Amino acid sequence: MSARTLSVETPVIAPSILKVDYAEFLPQLRQLEAAGAKTLHWDVMDGHFVPNLSYGAMVIKSARSRTELFFDAHLMISEPGRYLDDYLKAGCDAITIHIEAVPEPAELLQRIRAAGRKSGLAINPRTPLERIVPFLSDCDQVLVMSVEPGFGGQSFMPEVLGKAAALKAQGFPWISIDGGIAPGTIEQAAAAGVRYFVVGSAIFDEPDYTLAIRDLESRAQSHCQ
Ligand code: DX5
Ligand code: ZN
Repeated sequence: MSARTLSVETPVIAPSILKVDYAEFLPQLRQLEAAGAKTLHWDVMDGHFVPNLSYGAMVIKSARSRTELFFDAHLMISEPGRYLDDYLKAGCDAITIHIEAVPEPAELLQRIRAAGRKSGLAINPRTPLERIVPFLSDCDQVLVMSVEPGFGGQSFMPEVLGKAAALKAQGFPWISIDGGIAPGTIEQAAAAGVRYFVVGSAIFDEPDYTLAIRDLESRAQSHCQ
């Protein structure tokens, strides 16, 4: 059972651990904590499901003992079932898999929940929402991708916001978005019903993480309906 919890009643800014300076990870982690971050979004890429390679469970595990922040793992990997136990043992509090990698994800989502963690399904920009509707009852979180997964620093795709609005209309509690979230786009996502905003460039390219996170939080808050 994960001791850590996270409320998405109010907007949550989730720093994406893809643009971090890995050689300076611990000082940056402390900066994020001081900046008021409540969670870290771990972008796991296998160089197969996406055309990029990042890190795996052992890196997350090494950070686990250094902080009480909520760990949200975004698994952009082709075989999440094969490695799921590694991410559970690494201390992830939420684990999100892609519907494009696992067309029948119910069993895996139930395994994540059975381990006392939050289960999530991610959906790529060109994947219709209908693909995940049959599995929403096994999901705590839906991650709407607003870029093609694999890289930070890409442009936000507003055409995916219809999926967030449809989930909001169904009363789905935890709607997340990932890719190109920054001042000017976070407002649109918040107005569509998103409450959990993954942010890479708009935090890590800024000189002051605290100012960046606070600005994003207030922009989201002022557009939440
Ligand atoms: C992309 C990742 C995102 C990315 C976000 O595949 O899932 O989390 O790092 O970075 P920005 O905010 O720069 O688009
Ligand atoms: Zn991500």
